[in-house]
Amino acid sequence: MGKLDGKIALITGAASGIGRASALAFAQEGASLAVADWDEAGAQQVAREIGARAFAIKVDVSKAADVERMVAATVGHFGRLDILFNNAGVCVPNAVHTMSEEEWDRTININLKGVFLGCRYGLPELMKQGGVILNTASVAGLEGHCGLPDYCASKHGVIGLTKSIALDYAQYNIRANCLCPGSVATNIMAPALARLSPQERERRLAAVVPPVVPINRAADPLEMARPAVFLCSDDASFVTGHAFCADGGWMGGHIYKVM
Ligand SMILES: NC(=O)c1ccc[n+]([C@@H]2O[C@H](COP(=O)([O-])OP(=O)(O)OC[C@H]3O[C@@H](n4cnc5c(N)ncnc54)[C@H](O)[C@@H]3O)[C@@H](O)[C@H]2O)c1
Repeated sequence: MGKLDGKIALITGAASGIGRASALAFAQEGASLAVADWDEAGAQQVAREIGARAFAIKVDVSKAADVERMVAATVGHFGRLDILFNNAGVCVPNAVHTMSEEEWDRTININLKGVFLGCRYGLPELMKQGGVILNTASVAGLEGHCGLPDYCASKHGVIGLTKSIALDYAQYNIRANCLCPGSVATNIMAPALARLSPQERERRLAAVVPPVVPINRAADPLEMARPAVFLCSDDASFVTGHAFCADGGWMGGHIYKVM
């Protein structure tokens, strides 16, 4: 028996990385999947890998009309929605004094407004029978990070939004949590890295696992998918309003040697 048998799940950013690994893991645990991403070909590929219990949706999570259509398509296809996993996100290093208004808006609109829109249109469906929301935040939602001011702001916002939803919708039998990954080996930095010189790219890649991570490596996306399954399953039936770190110990404290 799977942990998500018979559940209808919608995952955004599911063409790649954490979302893709989660879609495959959710399916393996018995869920049916709406695989949503603005990379339509990538979403279709993941849906094909899952088989008959999945279909792909093209969506830009920062656009209200797209997100409304995404939720309607899921309910139209499967009849209801049980699990909403708002996971799509972008990350482009920058600094406040050089960032354009458009760059700020893009990060906030995808990472934070996208989560709001998913909840805005997903909640009325979840309220019909109860369900689960999982929003991908980050350790950058819990502390500041050098060179990621807009990203940090967006992820702090996701955690605050999720905690508020947990309070407001517990009465509808809806749980809402955040997954806070640390460093995960995905393509999220690829567009930003592509703009750099080869030497600078090497330097940045070497810094992807900061010296503050006790488990001294980046995670495989599957190591995010497994906690995502847990948080969306009845195993987590008493867990809500929580920012769950899957970060190799990053948020455990500072590593410094006293002896
Ligand atoms: N990789 C990490 O180290 C890390 C760490 C902490 C948090 N996260 C978060 O995990 C989530 C998933 O990222 P990932 O690492 O798997 O990266 P990824 O780039 O592999 O996957 C992100 C997916 O989101 C999609 N996407 C981006 N903007 C979109 C939009 N506007 N509409 C629809 N789809 C969109 C992309 O096409 C891509 O398929 C993000 O929210 C990210 O901020 C990642």
